[in-house]
Amino acid sequence: MHITVVGTGYVGLVSGVGFADFGLNVTCIDCDEQKINDLLQGKLPIYEIGLEEIFRRNVRNNRLNFSTDLKSAVERSLVIFIAVGTPEGPNGEPDLSQVEMVARSLAEAMDDYKVIVTKSTVPVGTGRWLRKLIEETQKKKVKFDVVSNPEFLREGSAMEDFMRPNRIVIGTESEHAAAIVKDIYRPLYLIETPFVVTNLETAELIKYAANAFLATKISFVNEVANLCERVGGDIHHVAQAMGLDKRIGPKFLHAGPGFGGSCFPKDTLALAKMGKKFGSRMRIVEAVVDVNRSQRELLVQKIETALEGLSKRRIGIWGLSFKPNTDDIRESPAISICKKMIERQALIQAYDPISIPNAKRVLNGDCASYCQDAYEAATNADALLIATEWNEFRNIDLVKIKSLMKSPIIFDSRNIFEPEKMESLGFKYYGTGR
Ligand SMILES: NC(=O)c1ccc[n+]([C@@H]2O[C@H](COP(=O)([O-])OP(=O)(O)OC[C@H]3O[C@@H](n4cnc5c(N)ncnc54)[C@H](O)[C@@H]3O)[C@@H](O)[C@H]2O)c1
Repeated sequence: MHITVVGTGYVGLVSGVGFADFGLNVTCIDCDEQKINDLLQGKLPIYEIGLEEIFRRNVRNNRLNFSTDLKSAVERSLVIFIAVGTPEGPNGEPDLSQVEMVARSLAEAMDDYKVIVTKSTVPVGTGRWLRKLIEETQKKKVKFDVVSNPEFLREGSAMEDFMRPNRIVIGTESEHAAAIVKDIYRPLYLIETPFVVTNLETAELIKYAANAFLATKISFVNEVANLCERVGGDIHHVAQAMGLDKRIGPKFLHAGPGFGGSCFPKDTLALAKMGKKFGSRMRIVEAVVDVNRSQRELLVQKIETALEGLSKRRIGIWGLSFKPNTDDIRESPAISICKKMIERQALIQAYDPISIPNAKRVLNGDCASYCQDAYEAATNADALLIATEWNEFRNIDLVKIKSLMKSPIIFDSRNIFEPEKMESLGFKYYGTGR
């Protein structure tokens, strides 16, 4: 079977590579010519563990192609996945202009029955809107079905998540289309991946509900952590004991500077907007968004208070991506905290294993410099902020770090170290909620 994946970003590229590995013939389309040229030369635009190997294998097998020519790809495909971006729009609702542009091009290009699948995260009602838009703009009146197949992969383990997902959600009114999409995922069926087959609206909502629930756990534990700091509690033990309750579970109970990335911030906001739009307010989600925003500011205030001002203070930053194992800095707490500190005239010297090229595009100027390693970022620093918990920071030579710093003050926003150990080494140590 030939399929097309439109949009070759995190989701589109990983899905395209994964589908090719399932044995399908895949054409990945992007409007970014540079990206497609790079991919044709074997250069990957993103870093994901395992991606490169599976990419190379399937390019070699001729199952994976890259092109900017949507029309030809659509003509030879039965199924077209839409995996373009749906970034936050000016009013907090997702900006669907990329999806709309693809839909219009599909309507032009369709010459026969097609299954159009949204993999992008899109608000409830988008599937129906898409159907109408395509019907109205179709050049040749051919039949087609619309399916919602939200993607749940996590950056940092995207390839593994795609190949071994917790579930596959298929939302459509058409049994025929559901069967075709199920067939695409047959290798996962064989490893007993659960399938949830439902209607369009439900599938669209599942993605938002799942992300908002995970974000809720994070904002909740952050508020408890803030309370811990006031009352002398230790969030590490609170979260550990909470997580041991099987009804709660230990995941997403790590206190820190709040959630970031390309999904949680925009998806929580979108769900809150959807609630308002349909007259069923999502008050918990609204609070989650609010708590997350203030968590970053609270951390900056904590650093400012401890250092008695930020002006001309040299702050070493460890980690810039929104989480470890990815170079994605979209909505990264580390980046927004750096920006806030620069606004207060702090001097930032940052290290991240792979995200510096991306960070340089948004954080530049006289107040920001970049380092070769974690030690250089600590050198002559008035304080160090651990903003992203890359594994390499856990086994660092702390004695050497202390000797390099101007004053041994550490803000461990991710709680990677133990307070007692840090204090015994002579650091002034600030964790989150400890
Ligand atoms: N990144 C994640 O972890 C993740 C996880 C699950 C779901 N999602 C959702 O998946 C969608 C895609 O996210 P992403 O992170 O992969 O986005 P991305 O920004 O990394 O990639 C989007 C790609 O689409 C391309 N594009 C835009 N308009 C196009 C057009 N008209 N024709 C062809 N290509 C076009 C862009 O050039 C870009 O390469 C979003 O809706 C997102 O919310 C993302």
